[in-house]
Amino acid sequence: MKKSSVQEFLSGEKHRILIPQDEMQQRIKELGEQISRDYQGSVPILVGVLNGAFIFLADLVRNLTIDCEIDFVKISSYGDAKESSGHIRVLKDLDADIEGRDVLVVEDIVDSGLSVQWLRKYFTSRKPRSVRFVTLLKKLGSARVPYEVEYVGFEIPNEFVVGYGLDYAQLLRNLPAIYVLEDEED
Ligand code: PRP
Repeated sequence: MKKSSVQEFLSGEKHRILIPQDEMQQRIKELGEQISRDYQGSVPILVGVLNGAFIFLADLVRNLTIDCEIDFVKISSYGDAKESSGHIRVLKDLDADIEGRDVLVVEDIVDSGLSVQWLRKYFTSRKPRSVRFVTLLKKLGSARVPYEVEYVGFEIPNEFVVGYGLDYAQLLRNLPAIYVLEDEED
């Protein structure tokens, strides 16, 4: 039987593990505690940025002790390319009315900062009480615009990472940890 991409990836030599599963779960627990403290007395709307954030969001909310609502937005900036094109389109908008609400946007990774910069402006225009961002991963040395992210899980080197929601050509999102995908030429 033909191997799946995940099986091939894990049995090959084109990867190395960057963040193991247990380390990630521990950090997400800490983030959950911090966010629960910071939003005490509020019922924030957590907005997952599809597709990449779906696993992180699912794990994060299970570490919150406060009430929260969940919504999703889908924007397109990458296509199947490894580098961001910088062009952003809304593919799925929020269902919730966020006026007067505390909004916490959940990202899997911040790279150039274009998505965060754009989304902050987009959500702020709808007059929420607050807009903050939490990202599992923040790439260092890859920012193309100034941006702010209030909660960061891990700062990582400027390398192409997959797994735990992050894809390569839409595959490998279901890997349970974060891996660095080595260049084909290496
Ligand atoms: C990724 C990630 C962020 C964005 C970050 O999404 O989920 O939304 O890129 O990059 P930036 O800081 O350079 O803007 P992607 O467009 O790859 O879509 P996906 O989540 O569906 O894989």
